[in-house]
Amino acid sequence: MTTAAETANLRLGDTAPDFIADSTIGKLEFHKWLGDSWGVFFSHPKDFTPVCTTELGEAAKRSADFKKRNVKVLALSVDSVASHDKWKGDIEETQKCLVDYPIVGDGSKRVANLYGMIHPNASDSFTVRTVFVVDPKKKIRLTMTYPASTGRNFDEILRVIDALQLSDAHKVATPVNWQDGDDCIIPPAIQDPEELKTNYPKGFKTIKPYFRVTPQPNK
Ligand code: BEZ
Repeated sequence: MTTAAETANLRLGDTAPDFIADSTIGKLEFHKWLGDSWGVFFSHPKDFTPVCTTELGEAAKRSADFKKRNVKVLALSVDSVASHDKWKGDIEETQKCLVDYPIVGDGSKRVANLYGMIHPNASDSFTVRTVFVVDPKKKIRLTMTYPASTGRNFDEILRVIDALQLSDAHKVATPVNWQDGDDCIIPPAIQDPEELKTNYPKGFKTIKPYFRVTPQPNK
C-alpha cells in the first residue's frame, strides 16, 4: 500500500494512485471508473466560490470535447458530497450547463493528500488548482498547478490532450503554441531512412539536422 507521503510528489510517468471515495455519483473506484478512458482529475479550492464555479461550469460545457477524445472528467475538493450536490445547482444555473461528471467529496483530505493537492504554504486547509491527465494505462501524462486566484484554461488542457494522443499515435512532438492542424516535429532520435519514410509519408523539411518538421500526420 502506497502512503500519502510517498505519492504526494507525483511525476510524469508515475501510475496515478488508485482510490475509493464518495462522489456525486456514489462510491467511485478511480481506476475501475476510468476503465479504458483517459482521465482529467482536477481539484478546486472550495465549493460556493466564484472562480471555481466558472471552472466547473467550463468543464461541463466542454463535455462533448472530452468525450470525443475518450476522456472522463473527475473533480475534487475537500468539501462534502452534500455540499457538491447543492453547489451543482448554482453552477448549472449561473454557467448554463449540465454538470455531467462526478465530484469527489474529500472532507478527510485523504485523496487530496494522496495526490499532493494541498500545498500548505499556499493554504493548509484547501486544495490548490491541480490537474492530472491520466492515460488509459493509468500513467500520469500531465500535471498542472494553478493558484486559487487564477482560473485554469480548458482550451490548454484539451490542447495538451490532443498533443499527447497525437504523439502516442504518430511518433511526433509538437512545437511551441501548437494547435491541431499545425506542422509537427520529428523526434531527433528517429534517423533510420526507412522509418522516416514509413512514419512520415507526407515528407518532412530539415531546418537543422536535429530539427525536422512534418505536416500533422492525421490531417
Ligand atoms: C474562487 O474560486 O473564487 C476562490 C477560491 C478560493 C480562494 C480564492 C478564490
